[in-house]
Amino acid sequence: MPPQVRAFVHAHCLRCHGTATKEGGLDLQTLAGDLAIPAAFETWVKVHDKVHSGAMPPKDDDERPTPAATEALLKTLNAELTRADLARRAGDGRATFRRLNRTEYENTLPRLARSTRVARPRNAAGRWSRLRLRQVG
Ligand code: HEC
Repeated sequence: MPPQVRAFVHAHCLRCHGTATKEGGLDLQTLAGDLAIPAAFETWVKVHDKVHSGAMPPKDDDERPTPAATEALLKTLNAELTRADLARRAGDGRATFRRLNRTEYENTLPRLARSTRVARPRNAAGRWSRLRLRQVG
């Protein structure tokens, strides 16, 4: 995680989300910066979303970041999360694919199609059942 993200968290979050305080069960002090770790990725997404929605830091906190600092943080965090997500998809796409059973495969199709813009069969399930009907009848 880039140093400016750590600096922001340090200045605006650790008072309540340090190892000693852990408000809401969230410890941002020991949170791994490696976004390839799924749990860390999820937590940084939460951090992004809470800051983005303005819920964190709390409105009445007297150490609230300036709008410019908030915007800069969100931009950096967004770029980091997007990059990690793309890297993950590129890295384990094939392995994941091989492990999927039929149901999972069909459930995954729309998601893959959206993310990679590969055209998907118009109606995989429908086609399959029509085929079976023809075989039976
Ligand atoms: C004044 C104390 C305080 C500060 C400062 C603060 N928080 Fe929180 N935060 C809380 C409390 C209390 C909760 C739990 C209740 C809630 O969700 O509102 C919480 C909850 C959260 C949660 C949800 C945790 C979960 O797993 O549901 C996230 C994410 C979060 N804070 C992120 C941040 C970030 C990022 C910052 C700094 C930009 C920050 N908070 C600053 C007090 C604080």
